[in-house]
Amino acid sequence: MAILQASFKFFLLVSFVESIAFAELTPDFYDEVCPEALDVIKEIVEEAIAAEPRMGASLLRLHFHDCFVNGCDGSILLDDTPTFTGEKTAGPNNNSVRGYDVIDQIKMEVNTFCLGNVVSCADIVAVAARDSVFAEDHTTKSSSAAETPPPRGYYSNLVQMRGLLHADQELFKGDGGDVEDLVQFYSENVDEFWGDFGDAMIRMGNLSPLMGEDGVIRENCRLTS
Ligand code: HEM
Ligand SMILES: *[C@@H]1O[C@H](CO)[C@@H](O)[C@H](O)[C@H]1NC(C)=O
Repeated sequence: MAILQASFKFFLLVSFVESIAFAELTPDFYDEVCPEALDVIKEIVEEAIAAEPRMGASLLRLHFHDCFVNGCDGSILLDDTPTFTGEKTAGPNNNSVRGYDVIDQIKMEVNTFCLGNVVSCADIVAVAARDSVFAEDHTTKSSSAAETPPPRGYYSNLVQMRGLLHADQELFKGDGGDVEDLVQFYSENVDEFWGDFGDAMIRMGNLSPLMGEDGVIRENCRLTS
């Protein structure tokens, strides 16, 4: 856990503010424009997970699916219109990716607290994903090993053919596939998992973010204007 926390200190926030000419990714970007922003996001994420524990997993996946198509630009949040077909209804996302309402709520409350539209939709998704990982770990401490999210029990369940998700059990089928060694390794080395997971999330969050004048902060994450 300590390893993950350390890694996430470098968690990179995408900055979309037009007035900053030489924008860089930095974890304290919002300290200046809206110091409350990150706390507001965290609070809503925790509430959402308390209401429905699955939401933590869903918000993490939302970030992944945003980043893997055209970079972490919040584009997965855009609703289709008669003249625009976006990522939301694309095969791997339609009726499968969830958490949009939570993002809407965060956006609304963040704009209220910040007295303006200063936090980008892509950043909200990234920070919500980060907070979900911690909240998950926090709220599930007392549940049984079989029910806990990754990695506590997660990899060992795979090795025992009791993977939570079908897509994940495909990683370990007991037939000597390419990633079985890795699954075995993580099942025995939880600290290594958290270190590598943190690194991977940072690399993912760095996928062609729009900075400075390259991006816009949308008022409504579902609409382009
Ligand atoms: C190309 C690699 C991946 C594939 C093919 C994949 C596929 C899937 C599929 C098909 C599901 C639906 C559940 C099921 O059928 O078992 C799922 C759920 C999920 N995936 Fe992935 N996944 C991939 C990578 C990732 C990554 C990198 C993350 C985390 C950053 C992730 C996080 C999740 C989570 C948290 C869920 C559950 C979401 C929920 O309950 O709402 N997946 N994935
Ligand atoms: C997405 O899901 C909706 C609701 O089930 C369906 O009507 C629509 O055809 C789907 N869109 C695509 C592109 O598959």
